[in-house]
Amino acid sequence: VTLSVAKSGGNATSPYMYGIMFEDISHSGDGGLYAELIQNRAFQNGTLDAWSAVGGATLALDTSTPLSQALPRSVKVTGGQHTAGLKNSGFWGFDVKKSKKYTGSFYSYGEYSGRFTVSLVSNTTSEIFATTTVKSKSVAGRWTQHTFELRPTKDAPDISNSFVLEYKPTPHTELKFNLISLFPPTYKNRANGMRPELMEKLKELNPTYIRCPGGNNVEGNYAGNYWNWSATVGPLKDRPGRPGTWGYYNTDGLGLVEYMHWAEDLGMDVVLAVPAGLYLDGEVVSEADLAPFVQDALNELEFLMGDVSTPYGALRAKLGYPKPWKIKFVEIGNEDNLWGGLDSYKGYRFRMFYDAIKAKYPDIFIFSSTAEYMYKQSGRDYHEYTRPDYFVSQFGMFDNWTAGNPIMIGEFASIQNNTGKLEDTDWNAPKNPWSTWIGSVAEAVFLLGAERNSDRVWGVSFAPLLQNLNSYQWTPDLISFTADPADTTVSVSYPILSLFAKHPLTHTLPATAANGTSFGPAYWVAGRNDAAGTYLLKAAVYNSTGGAEVPFRVGFDGLSRGAPATLTVLTAPGGPFAHNTPANKNAVKTAVTQLRAGEGGVLEFSLPDLSVAVLEAKW
Ligand code: AHR
Repeated sequence: VTLSVAKSGGNATSPYMYGIMFEDISHSGDGGLYAELIQNRAFQNGTLDAWSAVGGATLALDTSTPLSQALPRSVKVTGGQHTAGLKNSGFWGFDVKKSKKYTGSFYSYGEYSGRFTVSLVSNTTSEIFATTTVKSKSVAGRWTQHTFELRPTKDAPDISNSFVLEYKPTPHTELKFNLISLFPPTYKNRANGMRPELMEKLKELNPTYIRCPGGNNVEGNYAGNYWNWSATVGPLKDRPGRPGTWGYYNTDGLGLVEYMHWAEDLGMDVVLAVPAGLYLDGEVVSEADLAPFVQDALNELEFLMGDVSTPYGALRAKLGYPKPWKIKFVEIGNEDNLWGGLDSYKGYRFRMFYDAIKAKYPDIFIFSSTAEYMYKQSGRDYHEYTRPDYFVSQFGMFDNWTAGNPIMIGEFASIQNNTGKLEDTDWNAPKNPWSTWIGSVAEAVFLLGAERNSDRVWGVSFAPLLQNLNSYQWTPDLISFTADPADTTVSVSYPILSLFAKHPLTHTLPATAANGTSFGPAYWVAGRNDAAGTYLLKAAVYNSTGGAEVPFRVGFDGLSRGAPATLTVLTAPGGPFAHNTPANKNAVKTAVTQLRAGEGGVLEFSLPDLSVAVLEAKW
C-alpha cells in the first residue's frame, strides 16, 4: 500500500463519531451498571424471586397495605423462633470487600420494638462478613424507613453470599417489608448510581454520545408497555417499574435523571430515544390516538430542559435538579422499519413527532429510527448485525449516501461466522457467544468506511453494550460481567473501538493511492486532528482465508523529515476466532512502535493479516 496523503481537501468530520448505545437487555441496567445489589427489591414483578425465609419464618406477598401507589406489593414475614426474616441472593451473588462501604435502607410495617440485624453472609460457610443492627422504628399501621451501613471486616472469598435482614419475633410478630435496598460505593459517589468498574470500562471507550433508552426496550412488547419517562423519575418508592422488553422486570431505578447523570459523568451528549407508537407485537398507535405520545415527548423535553417556570421544569426542580440539562438529539422510536411499522412511520408517526418537537425546539437534531426513511432535515439510524465478510463488503456503502441527512450507525456487531459465501445474518441460526477477532476486524473495516465518510456518518455505537453472564438475551456483547468485578471482560471489539475513539479525526484527508494500490485486503482512512496537531492513518487488514503481511508506505504532505510518529497495532495471536472470556481476557495484543518520518514525510511499516492499526504523526 503506497499512499500520498494531502494536508487539506477532505471534509470536516462529525464530532460524535464514537458513542455508546444502551437499553436494559441482558441485565445491563438492573443487575448490571445500575449498582443496586438487591434483586427484586420491591416485588415489582409480583413474585418473591431472589428472596427466601430465614429462621423458620414464612414469606408471603401482600397487597393489603401498599407502600405507595407505585409499589403496591410487599413481603409479609410471619413465624420464626428465635429469629425471623428474609434473605436475598442478589443479582447472582454479592461482591463483599473490606474496602467498601455498603449503604442500605428498607421500609417496614408492623409493631416491633427490638433491633433489626442486617448482614452479608456466605452461602457456603455461613460466615458473616458484615453486620450491623438497626433500632426498629417500626409501628403498626404505617410504613417506616430504616437506613444502615455495612462495613465488611474482611473480603469474602467469592460472590456466593446473601444479604440477610432479620429480627427477634414474638409469637405474634407480623412484619412487612418493602424497597429493601443495598448499594456499594458508586461511580463518582452518585446516590442511586452506577457500578464504578463498569463505568471505568465505558470511559475507556471515549464515548461522545449515549443513545438511550432503547433499542427495543423503548417501544415495549405490547400496547401500553413502552418506556414511560415520567414513571422513571422521582423517589424510588414512586417508580412502579415495568415489564421490560427482554423478559425481566425493569425497576426503573435507572431512570431518566440517572441517564443524564451518566451522560454528565462521562462527558457524553444524549441521543434521547422516545417511544413512537409502535409495539413489538406489531400493534401501531393510530394517527387519531398518537397526539398524547407526541405530547409526552414534549413533556419529557420540558422536564429536561425547561426553566423552573414551566410545569415540567418545575417538577424537575422539585425533585432536586433546578439546573436544566441540554438535549441536542432525539430519536423517534427504534427500528420502525420492522414489526410492520414502516407504513405508519412514514405516513404520520415520524412527521407528527418531528414537526411538534421542531416547532418548540428548532435546534434539536432529530433522527429517524431507520435508514429507510428521512423527512426534512432528519438524520437516519442504520443498524447492522451481520457476518465478517458481509461487513467488509459494506466498506464503501456510505460513499454515496446523501450528505445533509446524517446517518447514525446506532447499532452494529458481527454476530455470526462466515459461511464461505457472502451471506448476511441468518436470524434462525444461533449468534456467536463472544465477539471473534475476525468479526471485530471486519467491524473495523466497516468503521473505516464510515470514518471515510464522517461528514455524513454522524456516529457509531456497538450493540448491545453490556451483558450479565448469569442472565442474558443476546450475544455477543461489548462488555460482560457478573456480580464479581474480577469477571468483567471486554470483547475483542472493545480495544479497536477504544483505539479508534481515542484518535478522532477532525478532518478526513484525501489519500492518493499509487498504481497497484487498492482497497482489500488493506483498508484505511487518512485524516488529521487539528486539536492534537496530528496526521492520522487508521487501517485494517482483513483476509478471511488468511494472507501475508501488507507493507505500507504512507507520505503525509507537510510532515517534516524526522517527525515522530506512533504506530499502534492490534492483533490476536490466537487467530480468527480468538475471543475473550472471563478466564482469558487478553486475546488481543497491542504493539506500540515509535517511528520517524523519512524524506517527504514518509512513514513505512507493515501490518499482518487480521490486524487493526492507528498511525499518528505529530506535525
Ligand atoms: O441490540 C439488541 C436489539 O437489536 C435492539 O434492541 C434492537 O434495536 C435490535 O434489533
